[in-house]
Amino acid sequence: MSTVIDRIGLLVTNDPSVGEGTADLRNAAVLIDDGAIVWVGDADRAPAADERVDARGRCVIPGFVDSHSHLMFAGDRADEFEYRMAGRPYTAGGIRRTVALTREASDEALRANAVALLAEMRRQGTTTVEIKSGYGLTVGDEARALRLASELTSETTFLGAHVVPAEYADDVSGYVDLVTGAMLDAAAPHARWVDVFCETGAFDVDQARAILLAGQAKGLGARMHAGQLGESGGVQLAVELGAAAVDHCTFLSDADVDALGSSRTVATLLPGVEFSTRQPYPDARRLLAAGATVALATDCNPGSSFTSSMAFCIAVAVRDLGMTPAEALWAATAGGAAALRRTDVGTVRVGARADLVLLEAPSYVHLAYRPGVPLVSRVFAS
Ligand code: NIG
Ligand code: FE
Repeated sequence: MSTVIDRIGLLVTNDPSVGEGTADLRNAAVLIDDGAIVWVGDADRAPAADERVDARGRCVIPGFVDSHSHLMFAGDRADEFEYRMAGRPYTAGGIRRTVALTREASDEALRANAVALLAEMRRQGTTTVEIKSGYGLTVGDEARALRLASELTSETTFLGAHVVPAEYADDVSGYVDLVTGAMLDAAAPHARWVDVFCETGAFDVDQARAILLAGQAKGLGARMHAGQLGESGGVQLAVELGAAAVDHCTFLSDADVDALGSSRTVATLLPGVEFSTRQPYPDARRLLAAGATVALATDCNPGSSFTSSMAFCIAVAVRDLGMTPAEALWAATAGGAAALRRTDVGTVRVGARADLVLLEAPSYVHLAYRPGVPLVSRVFAS
């Protein structure tokens, strides 16, 4: 069945053949058929279709691409959030609490939690989601998380190296051997990506290198958590290994920024984390000035950032990371697509997937200008 979205006041295409940045069109129409965009042009020349949606002059954007989430978990950690707001710092150790609850949970409970969060994301305009494992940390539990995640998305990431589980506290190298051996073997059939949390309290640069190389040897693409709590060599390692993205990037040396600026590795900023942990925000301007590709994602997880809202991330990015509304929107759509090395999402052009969001607003600027307001009027998802 074909649908024409007609009388679009402002259409964000992110299509470089149309223009720079968000490459907006005014008074536009889009024809979608069988899950794909088949025509984009002037509303006065809109083709006929089985269904006509009248956008009444409002704004249409590409569906959000949330390139970083941890949806396979059980329980929540609202108590930690309360403590943090009262002044306690965030540490990586809380992850182990979620690990204990996740191991106990049934497949049905894990699936139901992830499906509910995914539906919550979809209602808020997110049409592509990456999902990580990382709260199982045994061979069986990591493989299970990825098997369940792969029912929901093709963007699945093996994060056995999220934190060293309690039972390996005295044998970290034994755990790295497990992650690069039996755990990777069990996870790889269900995963597209391999990730490491490279940070004090988690994994160091040498361990991260071993894990990413092992994953790459199994055909997985590399991505990385680095620079969340402090500077580390993780960012430059990610660039050196050709990782698709390095995520957090809150604490960066000048050499890290230069490395990101001259590579294809996307710097993914996760402002929900700084909001929810009362940490300083990353400096998007510094990255953009160096020529880095910047993405925005939620990092949706029960510890450091329990938001599913890309609009919220855009609002914070504009308010506190120094991004313009156009840069933030691009980062939340085309930037996320680049972080997943996808060209079929995050853009409105002929041949791309029919993932579009009709806003109850004349412009995407309202995503930041009206923070917390549910502006998504209709979601089209392929
Ligand atoms: O991306 N940084 C590591 N992982 C998550 C935190 C997970 C948790 O606290 O449960 C993150 O922030
Ligand atoms: Fe994360």
